Amino acid sequence: MRRKLIAGNWKMNASLAANTALLAGIKAELSQQPACDVAVCVPAPYFAQCQTELAGSAMAWGGQDMSEHESGAYTGEVSAAMLLDFGCRYVIVGHSERRTYHAENDQLVARKALRALRSGLIPIVCVGETLNEREAGDTDKIVGQQIDTVLAAIDAADLADIVVAYEPVWAIGTGKTATPQMAQDVHAMLRRKLMKKNAVAASQVKILYGGSMKPDNAKELLSMADIDGGLIGGAALKAPDFLAIIRAA
Ligand code: 13P
Repeated sequence: MRRKLIAGNWKMNASLAANTALLAGIKAELSQQPACDVAVCVPAPYFAQCQTELAGSAMAWGGQDMSEHESGAYTGEVSAAMLLDFGCRYVIVGHSERRTYHAENDQLVARKALRALRSGLIPIVCVGETLNEREAGDTDKIVGQQIDTVLAAIDAADLADIVVAYEPVWAIGTGKTATPQMAQDVHAMLRRKLMKKNAVAASQVKILYGGSMKPDNAKELLSMADIDGGLIGGAALKAPDFLAIIRAA
């Protein structure tokens, strides 16, 4: 039985004051030993705040992106070592918003995942198809290519240290959710791909669902065989909603 992970992705929504209120609200209700792993992925300027406010809590924190490079002349970039300096455990790579607005392709995402693994961070590798791709019947092909490129870049032995997140682009921030069966079908396809890389590790890899996961649909999604948690956008910004999803896990 895989332990579930509920991870919030705050995206570009945060302020010192709002974060303190949100984190306090979550911490107040979160038991010291929640039944699932819990994390928040925050904008880089707030890593220090998370380190101060979440140290010793049951919640981990992480980034939403990182550089493929180790260090050097890359203005504006944030390195894996910098995330680690502030106690980050996770980093999202290949979110569809990075792919769309920052032209990140499968190869770059794979290099970032590899850099994260080599640095000791757990990459949350995002994959997902657009509405056009789904309607054209290309979901498995597109999502399959996205994960295959990452799998080709990493060592089989490292597979146990990644998290995969299936986020259908058409479900992000739209209120449209994949049905539990639609999501499960893609998760099962992803698991088969992971199995080919390393069968033992693949059975332990968490595959999260993301895309309008809310308190009222979380339980059904999280009850599917290959859905091992959620990557939560909008609902992670409200303590009661985030807590309700954690309880559903
Ligand atoms: P929403 O939960 O707001 O749809 O966002 C999902 C997402 O993109 C998480 O990374």
